[in-house]
Amino acid sequence: MIVVSGIQPTGKPHLGNYLGAIRNYVKLQDEAHAGGGKCFIFLADLHALSMPHEPAELHASTLEMVATLVACGLDPANTTLFNQAQVPQHAELQWLLMGTARMGWLNRMTQWKDKAGKNREGQSVALFSYPVLQAADVLLYQATHVPVGEDQKQHLELARDIAQKFNNDFASEDAPVFTLPEPYIPEAAARIMSLRDGTRKMSKSEPSDMSRINLTDDADEMAQKFRKARTDPEPLPSEMAGLDDRAEASNLVTIYAALAETSPDAVLGEHGGKGFGEFKPALADLAISVLGPIRDRFVELKQDRESLDAILARGAAQARDAGAPTLDAAYNALGLVRG
Ligand code: TYM
Repeated sequence: MIVVSGIQPTGKPHLGNYLGAIRNYVKLQDEAHAGGGKCFIFLADLHALSMPHEPAELHASTLEMVATLVACGLDPANTTLFNQAQVPQHAELQWLLMGTARMGWLNRMTQWKDKAGKNREGQSVALFSYPVLQAADVLLYQATHVPVGEDQKQHLELARDIAQKFNNDFASEDAPVFTLPEPYIPEAAARIMSLRDGTRKMSKSEPSDMSRINLTDDADEMAQKFRKARTDPEPLPSEMAGLDDRAEASNLVTIYAALAETSPDAVLGEHGGKGFGEFKPALADLAISVLGPIRDRFVELKQDRESLDAILARGAAQARDAGAPTLDAAYNALGLVRG
């Protein structure tokens, strides 16, 4: 089992990142460690160049993201934890895959369509070609399991398509260059929605901070955000089927279930009939009990700049070694002369 995933270090990591992805990084890290596999988790800072960004902010938030991931339970002794920019093989392999990826495939990416909107001509080339870098990220390590939220599923399918076409075009059937990666998506919590609008994804780039619970929020901030979360005046039903047209209510129940590691129906079994005046404080207490210890560890770890730098330096060295054989195989398969 080879686990690979990345997170953009722009902005603060939030509850959607945690429940949709980070919690599974930790789960799969432990499985891989127990079973003799490997786990690679990285900060996708090169991906951040696809949108306008502030260099000083990116620099600071990259180090904070390392502290957050360790606070969430990633153990640098068992996971290769690194920053993409410190492992140039990612960008190198992206270029080698550019000849295989098709314009039509990239044009169909919903994230590209959403982010570009009507102004495609004005977007950076990086925003368009970003999924090819994402394919390189996972193929470089022969990933088998890629823990992500629902929104990354399509990018992972593209990575499989690229791997398959490259193998078909340039490798023999019994010696493929790339392994086809499988997305690993949580059943519940695959898509946590904004606290202000149940039809929009909880996102780092949403301007209103009230729309998300950041993993760095303190207990008062969390309680206030849940208190002000948008809801409707109806009490909770006793089963999820009763929440079909109530996006915000359904999101809060999903968040509760994911935090309590139970099913939404079990949550409604317990809280059905209650109004939000009662349910929201219960949800806030639960979130604080799960996320509070993570925040405390984060606050401690982020003071220790030297340790964070050391984690990244060690992770990058390991990642460069781990990716080298696949990169060599890709260069050779393409017939490129390297001396
Ligand atoms: P990013 O930084 O937007 O998000 C990091 C992870 O969090 C998940 N996620 C969510 N899950 C549930 N509900 C939400 N509201 C929510 N918002 C985000 C994402 O699905 C993701 O798993 N392109 C990627 C980073 C990346 C990557 C990779 C991922 C670069 N290379 C290779 C996997 C493999 C991104 O922008 O994620």
